[in-house]
Amino acid sequence: MKKKITIFGSTGSIGVSTLDIIKDHPDKYEVVGLSINNNYEKLLEQVRSYNPKVVSIQNERSYIKFKELNKSNDLKILNGNDSYGEILDNDTDIVVAAITGSAGLLPVVAAIERGITIALANKESLVCSGSLITSLAKKSGSLILPVDSEHNAIYQVLDLKNKSKISKLILTASGGPFLNKDINQLNNITPEQAIKHPNWSMGKKISVDSATMMNKGLELIEAHYLFDMPEDKIEIIVHPESIIHSCVEYTDGSILSQMGNPDMRTPISFALAYPSRISTSVDKLRLSSIEKLTFFEPDFEKFPCLELAYSSLKTKKSAPTILNASNEIAVDAFLNQKISYLSIPKIVEKTLNKASISDINSIKDVIEIDQESRKLAKELVDSGGF
Ligand SMILES: NC(=O)c1ccc[n+]([C@@H]2O[C@H](COP(=O)([O-])OP(=O)(O)OC[C@H]3O[C@@H](n4cnc5c(N)ncnc54)[C@H](OP(=O)(O)O)[C@@H]3O)[C@@H](O)[C@H]2O)c1
Repeated sequence: MKKKITIFGSTGSIGVSTLDIIKDHPDKYEVVGLSINNNYEKLLEQVRSYNPKVVSIQNERSYIKFKELNKSNDLKILNGNDSYGEILDNDTDIVVAAITGSAGLLPVVAAIERGITIALANKESLVCSGSLITSLAKKSGSLILPVDSEHNAIYQVLDLKNKSKISKLILTASGGPFLNKDINQLNNITPEQAIKHPNWSMGKKISVDSATMMNKGLELIEAHYLFDMPEDKIEIIVHPESIIHSCVEYTDGSILSQMGNPDMRTPISFALAYPSRISTSVDKLRLSSIEKLTFFEPDFEKFPCLELAYSSLKTKKSAPTILNASNEIAVDAFLNQKISYLSIPKIVEKTLNKASISDINSIKDVIEIDQESRKLAKELVDSGGF
């Protein structure tokens, strides 16, 4: 039996890598649904190659354009937030959650409500909704398989039978493109410089997050909710070679890690094939060709987003939601050259200070807090008051 796959965010970096893997295993996987925001031309190509039953296009203009150009009569074409549930009514075994930002929350919730297995790349949905996602998934029986390489590594070496014997989780970080720049050289960083990651090829938003190290902050929060670990048992270590993708330390002194070349097709294929494994065309790591592996503590002064993430996680309640929403606005403003690179953490910090911290009891609460925080952050961007 082929596994039926729906990809939310099929035109992005993770979406395209997922389709690459599926192309190599036509006997094992079948694409039933694809969803995008804008890029209808790429979606048309994907529809021709993978023949899904249903697609969903968020952007209204792209939706209309796609409908004009589509030649496949059997294809169901959807639009709007309601489409996330409808797209899954086509019998999906695995949802690949690969939308960027909190826009990925509703598709993840729709998959959970149907008890579907989720290959989760969209870390922001976990960050913004606290323990809601994991507890909803427990209730519905939905399995969440992490695709983020760090969390995927931890998942692979986590000894759940001995959870009480875990002394800490170690999240490795490449340190991004500015690891070796002096703090004084960060004033005039351009978007082009910030999205040039040394080891990984990714979408623009996550690339900027890697440059500010907010990505590691979001991953800290993701790890906390995913593995139910307190923040003082999650350590961030800079490892510029990106070979060891993260580790679990046990009370007997063992540190278990997962290694491999930095290529997202490894964690994606793990999630698609789970609990089995499949082959990929990823270059295999030759241990004898590694000269050295280095590890050191992150520089919290140069990367203030790390401290903002740690303190939001300590505060809990709506603080991670506010952190995530304001960061999305700040990164977008930076990419559109409205603010400088160094203003990103300032906007996040000011928004966290201005917003009132409240409890989160429902997905509706998450959406409201996300919207309010975006509004606050936008006001800061527009007024220059940061
Ligand atoms: N890339 C990586 O290596 C990597 C690694 C680990 C985790 N992740 C996580 O995976 C997620 C995706 O990252 P990415 O690098 O693949 O991003 P990306 O290349 O920017 O792709 C984002 C995808 O989401 C769609 N999308 C964006 N905004 C949307 C909206 N408002 N509504 C519906 N769809 C929307 C885009 O559609 P259009 O193309 O039509 O705009 C695109 O298909 C992020 O949460 C990221 O943190 C990525």
